[in-house]
Amino acid sequence: MTVRPRKEIHLAAHFPGVNNTTVWADPRAKSQIEFASFEHLARTAERGLFDFFFLAEGLRLREHKGRIHDLDVVGRPESLTVLSALAAVTERLGLAATVNATFNEPYELARRLASLDHLSGGRAAWNVVTSSDAFTGENFRRGGCLDRADLPHSRLRSSGGTPITRAAEFVATARELWDSWTPEGLPRPFAHRGRHFDIAGEFTVPRSPQGHPVVIQAGDSPPGREFAASAADVVFTRHGTLEEGRAFYADVKGRLATYGRAPEDLKIMPGVTFVLGDTVAEAQERAAEIRRRQISPQNAILTLEQIWGVDLSSYDPDGPLPDIDPDPESTMVQGRVRVGDPLAVAEKWRTLSREKGLSIRQTVIEASGRQSFIGTPDTVAAELDEFVRTDAADGFILVPHLTPGGLDEFVDRVVPLLQERGAFRTEYTGTTLRSHLGLAQPVWKG
Ligand SMILES: Cc1cc2nc3c(=O)[nH]c(=O)nc-3n(C[C@H](O)[C@H](O)[C@H](O)COP(=O)(O)O)c2cc1C
Repeated sequence: MTVRPRKEIHLAAHFPGVNNTTVWADPRAKSQIEFASFEHLARTAERGLFDFFFLAEGLRLREHKGRIHDLDVVGRPESLTVLSALAAVTERLGLAATVNATFNEPYELARRLASLDHLSGGRAAWNVVTSSDAFTGENFRRGGCLDRADLPHSRLRSSGGTPITRAAEFVATARELWDSWTPEGLPRPFAHRGRHFDIAGEFTVPRSPQGHPVVIQAGDSPPGREFAASAADVVFTRHGTLEEGRAFYADVKGRLATYGRAPEDLKIMPGVTFVLGDTVAEAQERAAEIRRRQISPQNAILTLEQIWGVDLSSYDPDGPLPDIDPDPESTMVQGRVRVGDPLAVAEKWRTLSREKGLSIRQTVIEASGRQSFIGTPDTVAAELDEFVRTDAADGFILVPHLTPGGLDEFVDRVVPLLQERGAFRTEYTGTTLRSHLGLAQPVWKG
């Protein structure tokens, strides 16, 4: 019988920027734009020997009832620019940028990613997202998008494809460009003729240290999972509970064989939150306080409106949930990724509220503001380890609730315990992100 080697945990740090997971009312909260904030979190992650630092992306300011949604914060700099600056103040930490495959072009983005890979000595990663709503598209004057109201999931009309088929061809094309120089360091002409892209020429950037920057995929539909299985190195998922995590893990890893890939070729990393205390009871008390801060009475109504898609401003946050149904075609909330079927979510929340006797605010706190790992450093380390050992994940993208100091406590108190358990590295053994993640160097297709 072969004994499976102990699985080591992979850790990444999500910069807590534009979202309402971040507690902006905390006096310790600092800017989500100033370089000092990015630098603080990146240095903390590197001190904790994390695999990578992660930036999300939003390409249009979110709107709520026709007004900019500024209840949390508004505005963020462009990710690859921030990461280029961070490359200069870190040495080993991977640097992952979320960049949309719908509103960019392969040649330009492949160039920028290969450049970051060179500048950072092989630490670049690209989180491929596919948001394609016409609201965001307006920023780019791309007329080929259908609105959600016209067609579910807003397919791209111009090419006859979908955001996912475009993303898959985008990644394949970028890899052709990254492969286009010879091992002797000479450029070779490339030509890509496909459904979404028809380009030819020479690539300006020589082969970068990782060969191909690491590709992360975030998306959950069956086509999204298939795309991840065929082309991604890492999946960023929302399935952060033990049961959901195991089901997702088995599903996605089960798709790999079709593409001639082994389970270890793709790492699955849910985005998770954590709250620590000296005792479990203290951690739970802190977690409850954080949830109350994340979901103010005003935020509770806005969160509900994001699901219902109708004006609920006359409802009392301390009163019962609305008995009217959500409008699945609503465009009242723009620029936010809608998760799941609103009718099903509403029904789930109503059941929760009925069974536990919860008000609107209490229901929102209970259903959406929940932290994933709450406990002492010891219990949290044990739980994280269990998730990875029992194949609910290969690691985690940690989402702290404070900008930029929210990771400090985790690195100081939990990382040493993970190391003691033999579950996490005690030093970086390689220099590239691929080596931190245990991913093979891609074969150079000449
Ligand atoms: C965990 C996770 C994180 C995501 N982060 C972003 C993001 O930062 N920016 C963005 O534009 N879209 C983001 N998305 C949206 C996805 O790219 C995609 O558009 C959406 O999930 C719909 O695709 P699907 O039906 O395959 O899930 C994220 C999705 C998931 C699941």
